[in-house]
Amino acid sequence: MPVSGALEQGPGKAPVSGAEISVHDTENGHPSEDVYILAIESSCDETAASVVKNGRTVLSNIISSQIDLHTLFGGVVPEIASRKHIEKINQVIEEALTEAHMSLEEMTAIAVTYGPGLVGALLVGVAEAKALAYAAKKPLVGVHHIEGHVSANFIENPDLEPPFMCLIVSGGHTHLVIVKDYGEFEILGRTRDDAAGEAFDKVARAVGLGYPGGPKVDKAAKEGNPHAIEFPRAKVGDNPYDFSFSGLKSAVLNYINHAKMMGEEINVPDLAASFQNAVVEVLVSRTIEAAKQHGYKCVAIAGGVASNSALRAGMEKACKEAGIQFFHPSPIFCTDNAAMIGAAAYYEYKKGARAGWDLNAVPNLKLGER
Ligand code: KG4
Ligand code: ZN
Repeated sequence: MPVSGALEQGPGKAPVSGAEISVHDTENGHPSEDVYILAIESSCDETAASVVKNGRTVLSNIISSQIDLHTLFGGVVPEIASRKHIEKINQVIEEALTEAHMSLEEMTAIAVTYGPGLVGALLVGVAEAKALAYAAKKPLVGVHHIEGHVSANFIENPDLEPPFMCLIVSGGHTHLVIVKDYGEFEILGRTRDDAAGEAFDKVARAVGLGYPGGPKVDKAAKEGNPHAIEFPRAKVGDNPYDFSFSGLKSAVLNYINHAKMMGEEINVPDLAASFQNAVVEVLVSRTIEAAKQHGYKCVAIAGGVASNSALRAGMEKACKEAGIQFFHPSPIFCTDNAAMIGAAAYYEYKKGARAGWDLNAVPNLKLGER
């Protein structure tokens, strides 16, 4: 596919096999190798667009959240999500370009999340990105949503480079991985059942905190005692780095049902704090253990649950004690956004990754798959 501008090899730069190096012309007409990516994210309930320079500098980060809409139903309704993405996507992209003070023509490439996620929601972003790339004659880069979450760490941490250990905790994923290189992962452990975010959402619903569960549990837990209720910490037999949260979730549900049967009032802050403490303890201890065992001195966290205040505090403390450097994105870059997609896309682009016009949404895309 054609790239904009002249083709030029920068000084001291290794050639990218099978790929052209895009050149962005600056105002004074001198070529520069700055890479500007317009990134689009629509995998779940956030319509987002961002302009990212050279993978680490966010020039704009526009997020249109559908939370209010889905709150009525207690969770994300896929059909409504797709329709809302269609309604919002052009406006969000326009805002992202305006805020960055740049035009579509000035972009080096267009990037989009193509999986995993809700198929209808993903398709809106993919179709939009293809149309823009085709019309503006720009290269198209397809990005793995989870690779995006991990790459959110590069935005505010200029010193962070692979390899490092990363705990990925979102609404649909719980993975402990070694980030071996940009976009290259070795999976050490994963959840056997519920994802960490899913457990937060289910417990929140059961206790009447509503949707989205994670932030509500986080807030309620601040007023509660994390040692008030002793919930189980599941160990998964054959892999020390796998996780399981369904036992914990059932224990919380049993606790609620038992209290209701006995006519006892539930102390919601105590329950939230105790549940959260159980999740955080398992996530932190397993991540630190893996980092020690594999000899990594850098640990990062990623995904919506990475914005949890207790997880951030717990990880910070444990890393300090173990002499490990701890990295985490700001909360706005933890939950779904397009800046993280722009960051991931930059490294994919530099490696020569280009998507064709047949790029499709892949709802079950696995980490490490292309
Ligand atoms: O990464 P994300 O925005 O979307 C997915 O890719 O899934 O993660 C959403 C998940 C939800 O389950 C939400 O409840 C959880 O992240 N979450 C939190 C917090 N903020 C969002 N969980 C715990 N504490 C939070 N502060
Ligand atoms: Zn996500």
